[in-house]
Amino acid sequence: MPKKVIFDVDPGIDDAVAVCMGLFDPNVEVVAITSVGGNVPPAQATRNVQVILSQVDPPRWPRIGAATAPDHGLPTEGRRIFGPDGLGGVAFEVAVRRDLRPSEKVICDEVRAAPEAVTILACGPLTNIARAFLRDPELPYLVGQLIIVGGTVSGPGNITPAAEFNIYCDPQAARTVFRTPCTKFLIPLDVTNQVELTLDWLQRLPDETTRIGRFVRKILHAAFRGYRQELGLEAIRIHDVVGLVALTHPELFTFVEMAGDVETIGELTLGATVFDRRRVPAWRHNIAVATEVDKEGVLEEIIRSLHAAAAVAESQPPPIMGK
Ligand code: BDR
Ligand code: CA
Repeated sequence: MPKKVIFDVDPGIDDAVAVCMGLFDPNVEVVAITSVGGNVPPAQATRNVQVILSQVDPPRWPRIGAATAPDHGLPTEGRRIFGPDGLGGVAFEVAVRRDLRPSEKVICDEVRAAPEAVTILACGPLTNIARAFLRDPELPYLVGQLIIVGGTVSGPGNITPAAEFNIYCDPQAARTVFRTPCTKFLIPLDVTNQVELTLDWLQRLPDETTRIGRFVRKILHAAFRGYRQELGLEAIRIHDVVGLVALTHPELFTFVEMAGDVETIGELTLGATVFDRRRVPAWRHNIAVATEVDKEGVLEEIIRSLHAAAAVAESQPPPIMGK
């Protein structure tokens, strides 16, 4: 039986590639894609989810949740690395729906509809997940598992010296989620930074005769330029895609139980994830953290999965805009 998954995303090029893979994976049933502000403001995130769906047109469209502004505002006006629109500035055609429910409502509905069977893959700030937990206090006990892409354990942050982007964007929400008793996994920067998509790997993507190939090649080449210009890297870090592979192929990762929390007031450390790794810890374990990854195995899986997705997509009729 395929795993029921809610993708909570702030697309974001790595979010977009993860969604493309998940939508066509026979072992994954994407029950909803919920948008959240992060890489781009909330309205753009909601639009980008619809861009992705319109471009790849999966056999079954999941429910879509609309992003709304976080309670404390987004501390960062998007990240230049993915371009101002989050998808590399490529003018994609899209038919935008205006009747969408808020993301947190969609999360509550879908988890309630299949108690203990839904995995939430959180690829953006934790705004929606925290709101869903506050709206329905029983919900944490009904979530199958929550996989969070974000935070750091031993390494530096990527938006401030101390903080990782997703956690930094809404630290209060992240703290609520970290402190909520549900089965949680963290895929931190220490692990996602190790999986670098270089030009050699980009050349192995499905080709442009397929709609998956056209879409992922366009956005990933834009990301490649962003990483070169902004970070001086000749490779892309595809954090959210690594998060999806942790869900579909956990055997490629090592997980260690830890006791973690989030800094919500620090002048220099706002949004930092803190773990009690003292010899005699006082905090209780509350999250399983990925500490090691089979990099080559993850990269091979990404290429395999995108080729499989392209083959499935090509066996369907071409997309009709405004579906
Ligand atoms: C995270 O930040 C975002 O820019 C990416 O989409 C990813 O979710 C990595 O820090
Ligand atoms: Ca993201």
